Amino acid sequence: MPFSSTISAAASGQFSIGTITINRLGFGAMRITGPGIWGPPADKAGALATLRRLPEIAVNFIDTADSYGPDVSEELISEALYPYKGLLIATKAGLTREGPDRWTPKGRPEYLLDRAKGSLKKLRIERIDLWQLHRIDAAVPREEQFGAVKMLLDQGLIAHAGLSEVSVEDIKAARKVFPVATVQNRYNLVDRGSEDVLDYCEREGIGFIPWYPLAAGELARPGSILDMLAKKYGATPGQIALAWVLKRSPVMLPIPGTSKVKHLEENVAAASIVLDEGDFVALDEAARQSGS
Ligand SMILES: NC(=O)c1ccc[n+]([C@@H]2O[C@H](COP(=O)([O-])OP(=O)(O)OC[C@H]3O[C@@H](n4cnc5c(N)ncnc54)[C@H](OP(=O)(O)O)[C@@H]3O)[C@@H](O)[C@H]2O)c1
Repeated sequence: MPFSSTISAAASGQFSIGTITINRLGFGAMRITGPGIWGPPADKAGALATLRRLPEIAVNFIDTADSYGPDVSEELISEALYPYKGLLIATKAGLTREGPDRWTPKGRPEYLLDRAKGSLKKLRIERIDLWQLHRIDAAVPREEQFGAVKMLLDQGLIAHAGLSEVSVEDIKAARKVFPVATVQNRYNLVDRGSEDVLDYCEREGIGFIPWYPLAAGELARPGSILDMLAKKYGATPGQIALAWVLKRSPVMLPIPGTSKVKHLEENVAAASIVLDEGDFVALDEAARQSGS
């Protein structure tokens, strides 16, 4: 890579979740399952190799969920990386699965508690460093769901708690019940619907975990500003999109996901790209104008 000879997530900078400090560029373990995030991966050896490469390139923050597979992602993480020395494994619950690409919120407190205990078993640990409520279930009063999260914290089954796909108002309501350590919403260069949530997290020191961070929409086309900047920095458009996301905020903790070692290394190499201020602003303006 022209921008760095070593591939290391440490180049992305650090963020602390409670007493645990992680490198900001993490890994999303949703893509190591079968098609539709259902069942085992077609290439299990490749998925395990991808996971085992993570600590070697200083990725020490891994995001998963009980529903990825379901169970498959957590079980592969356990097979590849237990006892997780120096790694923060974040998981979540609150979505049930009936088949490929089907996700249904389920927020009954007893279900959430049961699924968190299931994650402990699959990961073979006594406490989850970061557990996230995957969705607020509209069919259950949200305070009951927040109460279940508090119970997990109080029982010591989880060390820190986060939310996913929430508004600023949801976060404020949750913070009346438990300390919110992180928020995980969809966010990328061209999908900026959560700017207000990101700004709130930055002000409050809450980690913001953008999912689908690699997307560049229309800007990925040849001849676009993203394409031109990729050539300027000797990088791929995806790497520049990721470097932009990382530069956007110090609380940003992107978790690009892949089932391939080659793609993982390419994504982590993006941590070493330092976009200059003018390029950052130009990309921001082009992305906003692209109207996505
Ligand atoms: N909270 C939520 O509701 C929620 C929802 C969705 C996802 N997530 C989390 O966010 C993580 C990331 O989200 P995501 O998987 O939707 O988006 P993403 O990481 O932006 O994109 C993943 C896709 O890009 C491909 N890819 C990755 N690196 C590549 C590279 N260097 N070159 C070419 N293709 C590449 C992957 O396929 P290959 O396997 O072929 O590389 C995969 O199809 C997930 O793993 C999961 O942990 C959370």
